[in-house]
Amino acid sequence: MPGIAIVGAQWGDEGKGKITDLLAERGDAVVRFQGGNNAGHTIVREGVEWKLHLIPSGILHPGKTCVIGNGVVIDPKVLIDELEALRARKVDVSGLRISANAHLIMPYHLLLDSAGEAKLGSLQIGTTRRGIGPCYADKAARLGIRVQDLLDEKILKKKIVAAMEPKRLSLRPFEKDPSLDLKAMTEEYLTYGHQLERHIADTSKLVWEILDAGAMVIFEGAQGAMLDIDHGTYPFVTSSNPVAGAACIGAGVGPRAIDEVWGVSKAYTTRVGAGPFPSELHDDVAEQIRTKGGEFGTTTGRPRRTGWLDLVALRYAARLNTLTALSITKLDVLSGFDRIQVCTSYKGAEGAEFDDFPYHQTVLHHATAELTELPGWTEDIGECRSMSDLPAAAVDYLRFIEEHLRVPVTLVGVGPGREQVIWTEAGNETLLSPSASRRPVGAG
Ligand code: IMP
Repeated sequence: MPGIAIVGAQWGDEGKGKITDLLAERGDAVVRFQGGNNAGHTIVREGVEWKLHLIPSGILHPGKTCVIGNGVVIDPKVLIDELEALRARKVDVSGLRISANAHLIMPYHLLLDSAGEAKLGSLQIGTTRRGIGPCYADKAARLGIRVQDLLDEKILKKKIVAAMEPKRLSLRPFEKDPSLDLKAMTEEYLTYGHQLERHIADTSKLVWEILDAGAMVIFEGAQGAMLDIDHGTYPFVTSSNPVAGAACIGAGVGPRAIDEVWGVSKAYTTRVGAGPFPSELHDDVAEQIRTKGGEFGTTTGRPRRTGWLDLVALRYAARLNTLTALSITKLDVLSGFDRIQVCTSYKGAEGAEFDDFPYHQTVLHHATAELTELPGWTEDIGECRSMSDLPAAAVDYLRFIEEHLRVPVTLVGVGPGREQVIWTEAGNETLLSPSASRRPVGAG
């Protein structure tokens, strides 16, 4: 049976791509369950860089079933470009399956995303402008176009008309935009349907069959808990649920299908877009982390806001996801700091101290980080492959995190390469451990 969810425990960009890529080796199938091409994964393999936005990173492992689940919103043009780029680099994409129930990002969603942001002015969310929010809004309004609609011209046209009708007013400024021409749009999307047809499937059933055969399924989240539309820093969030619970809905399985929940966090914190970020730095350290960590968006190229590790937010993410394991990425970026700071509580506007993530937006917006100082290390840790190779201060830093979260650190990233990781003792006890004995089941 085993099902393992891998989720972001911060504001996204935690390095889930690398971790999923690494762990996908142990799984038989990888399923994306929410988000869209607002996400971006960078994977470095043998010095070659791969950037994926929609297709699960498991695609780089021959013979794996890779699923884009019903909870994902798909821009078909982006998906086709991604497929073509992979084919051009001789990657076998025949194992990709796309849920017939996933919703499609339409040209009007892109226009409305940008127009919505422009209208908000200084209150902008800083979306990726990929049409994600408007697409999920149509899904909830029951005006969405789904992947299966691409296979029926009459239904597709009817649904596009119905979806555009209530948007007439907001789309008026784009009246002349060629992407909104009904005939051209229908034809364009029908062509996408032909191109994707062989990958379209009942993926909920497929995932069930894989689990039922005793094979291992990895549920891959995008973004992170703090961007969750229900639990994150609303309204400065994405429009889906990146928390592990959403893996069930977005893949079409029940909660009992998930045995382990892996959270991924950087050794520090970043965020793109607007919204509260209590441990944010604005000094030289912020710039040092940004430069050293290459903290620029994979999707939009925007410089990321940077700060020390926020254990208040991370503890909240651990609870929301019931994390059973924590993977810490980019520990190497902190090498060279004499002292390292960690946010262990928040101070509110009137001096109140918070150990728990405040539920009230006003409190959170005024919260500042209370920092605990720990010794740093100067050694280059890129070649470390076990905890005993790490400098004592780096080990202490990881232990400090574990103690605060009461979640074991299982895997530690010490550089961009896929081999640059440390499996901890706790990691070796997980289902995904390289030392765990299991026979891969050929399913799907
Ligand atoms: P949207 O998902 O494009 O609507 O953007 C909403 C918010 O989520 C913005 O602050 C984005 O910067 C943020 N966001 C969306 N996707 C990602 C991601 O993959 N990493 C980090 N932030 C993201």
